[in-house]
Amino acid sequence: MIVNSILDTIGQTPLLHIPVRGGEVSLYLKLEMFNPSGSMKDRMGLSMVDNRPISEDNVGIVESSSGNTASALAMISAVRRIKFTALMDSHASLEKILTVRAFGSNIRVVGSGDGALATDVRDREAMRISIEEGSYWTEQHNNPANPAGYVGLVTELLDDLGPTISHFVCAIGTGGSLCGSARQLRMHIPRLQVIGVEPVGSVIFGGQSGDYLQSGTGTPEGADVGMAIDYDVIDSGRKVSDEMAFSTCHYLAQRHGLLVGGSAGGAIFEALNVARQAPTGSRIVTLACDSGTKYLDTIFNQDWLATHEIKIVDLEEYFRELLVDETIAENLQRRGKTSTVSSNTTSRKYLQ
Ligand SMILES: Cc1ncc(COP(=O)(O)O)c(C=O)c1O
Repeated sequence: MIVNSILDTIGQTPLLHIPVRGGEVSLYLKLEMFNPSGSMKDRMGLSMVDNRPISEDNVGIVESSSGNTASALAMISAVRRIKFTALMDSHASLEKILTVRAFGSNIRVVGSGDGALATDVRDREAMRISIEEGSYWTEQHNNPANPAGYVGLVTELLDDLGPTISHFVCAIGTGGSLCGSARQLRMHIPRLQVIGVEPVGSVIFGGQSGDYLQSGTGTPEGADVGMAIDYDVIDSGRKVSDEMAFSTCHYLAQRHGLLVGGSAGGAIFEALNVARQAPTGSRIVTLACDSGTKYLDTIFNQDWLATHEIKIVDLEEYFRELLVDETIAENLQRRGKTSTVSSNTTSRKYLQ
């Protein structure tokens, strides 16, 4: 494919099918790390830049971000020749900070450096800079162009699967990807079950606040839950621990050769929980928000895991009935045969 701009490569990401319960239920992972800056945020970044008010056309852009929105806006700003300033946490992954710098954007690092999320401080700084410098704050938490940026993703899902999707399971931070996609999907699939996934310690769905290490997803105590979150479109809100989210990342890397970040790990862990109960024939879609290559030094680094006292759990053991026979199911599928296995039978039988 010949393209005239790197921005033309945003979207049209692959969909990875993982059969679970011996093929009774299908899990589909939308591989958003295939976007050019490595996350789904390229979609909403382009939407926020293209839909900014005409009065803001000739000014710089400022945004507060855990790293992926900043990387997307930095890439887009490089192509469009816009001055971009990113407000990022002092503990943001080095890979994300270096990416923003590589695209020629400015970074202001905020926060105490003790690892606590500084979302509220970042947002206040973004507002201050936009007023002082006369730049445009894209304000992803309250910008309708954020959820609207996922229209293309929904078209791709419907092109690939039609209106057969039973569940949509997605990490939630600003809520743009979950709510923007779910609202569009519901227009075609009224009975779609929509499940939002946040880290344990995040307060989007209430509950006890606390620290968490899954990046980009969730909202810590004190930060704004913005307008991009539409609770009306969400059927269920779930919480996943760092331990299970990161264990899922390790499972996907070692069993499927797929490197995903922690928020995707959390969402996919919860999608597997959904798959455990879902009626036969269910088709569950989850977004793999970004690539695990952004977290080689953290989620995939044994020293870092030990420092944070995170134990990686064997997911095939944890989801025994769900995952253990995947290889057999896949082999059968490859040979054009179907499996008759039921998830709760101890002695599993397959068609020869
Ligand atoms: C890796 C990652 N996962 C999940 C999210 C949450 O996505 P959204 O803001 O669309 O809710 C983000 C947002 O920054 C992210 O960077």
